[in-house]
Amino acid sequence: MTDQLVAAADASLDATWWRQACVYQIYPRSFADSNSDGLGDIAGVTSRIDYLAKLGVDAIWLSPFYPSALADGGYDVADYRNVHPQLGTLDDFDVMVEAAHGAGIKVIVDIVPNHTSDLHEWFVEALASEPGSAARNRYIFRDGTGPDGAEPPSDWVSHFGGSAWTRVPDGQWYLHLFARAQPDLNWDNREVRDDFLYTLRFWSDRGVDGFRVDVAHALAKDLSEPLRSSTSLDANLPLDGSDPLYDRDEVHEIFAEWRQVFNSYDPPRTAVAEAWAPTERRALYARPTELGQAFNFDLVKVDFDADEFRAVITTCLAEAELTGASSTWVLSNHDIVRHTTRFGLPKGTDLQDWLMTHGTSPKVDAEAGLRRARAASLLMLALPGSAYLYQGEELGLLEVADLPGEALQDPIWERTGNERKGRDGCRVPLPWSHTGESFGFGEGSAWLPQPEQFAASSVLAQDGKAGSTLELYREALRLRRQLQSAEELTWVGGESPEVVHFVRPGGWHCVTNFGSEPVALPEGVVRLSSAPLQGATIPAETTVWLTDWPSV
Ligand code: NOJ
Repeated sequence: MTDQLVAAADASLDATWWRQACVYQIYPRSFADSNSDGLGDIAGVTSRIDYLAKLGVDAIWLSPFYPSALADGGYDVADYRNVHPQLGTLDDFDVMVEAAHGAGIKVIVDIVPNHTSDLHEWFVEALASEPGSAARNRYIFRDGTGPDGAEPPSDWVSHFGGSAWTRVPDGQWYLHLFARAQPDLNWDNREVRDDFLYTLRFWSDRGVDGFRVDVAHALAKDLSEPLRSSTSLDANLPLDGSDPLYDRDEVHEIFAEWRQVFNSYDPPRTAVAEAWAPTERRALYARPTELGQAFNFDLVKVDFDADEFRAVITTCLAEAELTGASSTWVLSNHDIVRHTTRFGLPKGTDLQDWLMTHGTSPKVDAEAGLRRARAASLLMLALPGSAYLYQGEELGLLEVADLPGEALQDPIWERTGNERKGRDGCRVPLPWSHTGESFGFGEGSAWLPQPEQFAASSVLAQDGKAGSTLELYREALRLRRQLQSAEELTWVGGESPEVVHFVRPGGWHCVTNFGSEPVALPEGVVRLSSAPLQGATIPAETTVWLTDWPSV
């Protein structure tokens, strides 16, 4: 091949890097604290790039690190084009990107377009301006209902509990689908649209490789009067896009514009939608003319069960095929109870109720949870498409369910009148070492208390230890790169219904025994297993990777 052809081949490889990438989600405040102020920061991420490279991830996705009052862990953005002073500076950000790229790791940032912080200069200006003014028109302000306008404009409710409307001193109300401190933007306003295009360019120009788009399905709203009721948050949405708040057809015009920005870069910037749309409509966000990928969260809703896994995999691969996107797989993230804990609870446990018992009832079977989580992770990592890992899952961390009320920071706790604890239990800062006040997260204490059990799960305690969860993930990611092939799988049947077995092109087999009895090990060369094999059998609740002989 001539040099030119080689270069072209490299560029095209690069343009599709995301299709089967392993993306590691960093929740910056809880990852690594370089200046020991209790909050993780950007320099902390830079200091751990070697760790991420050794883990073998292709990309990192950073949850918001922008200036924010942290009313919703940073998803209340006060300035989209800067770094929170406690987390660092734009220079620190540039250094981090350079270090990541130097280690062959791409960088994805979180974009939060549905709402700003109430500290954003636009909202401050809106509050200081008259009803009907241009400043108010960047948000969704309405007069109230009832005799003196003292009732909210509609019955819409916030995801965090309570009405989605808050009244301001002059009597008008503003919409916030999340916390009061997160006013919703008006996406019918051209200025709002242009400003986000500018933000996408701002980060792309700084070398960012892609974007995770928060609440992508809520931007377009039908605000015509009278305001209609919405179909209970985003569950059970209609299939025709007729809900006034979620998954409306007009939202796709916005992302088509974004795609033009992404494609003006070489390689094009990537994007993944957080879109809680019905499965049938989720693929629309992933069209190549829009965001390119959409999260499927189906694996976060299943029990550790062969039929449920098989069904989800079948549906999601068919969905990805519809648009030519690649599928995404998620077992844990910053919004849900960690999967090691989920799989250690009896099937069907209501996780919010369970959290309210401080994790005591029912009791979590930590050993079974870890065994199943390791098996599920290995299965996920063998699937065609991209796998999104959440920081700490490679350590097998459990949810911290006994955080005391006074430590909780998730707005859900306050907005539900202390009836739901929210999501802090999966956001507890990472343990890097088994000693130190915050287990090596920083030198002082961390912003959320860490449990004693974090010592045994720490990076240092697992590093180099045969059979540890950290070493399992490292080996899985190394092999995954080596064995990765076309985005296809073929089901292999004929075994017990408790067994999920598929093979990828090139002869990479993944076999999970979901049952409680050992099953026969199929033929092939064993490359990795989530638990030690017993002779020629796969133990209960174990995944094994094999390759055909001669080995690939
Ligand atoms: C989804 C994010 O993942 C979550 O953490 C946040 O609270 C909401 N969007 C609102 O931005």
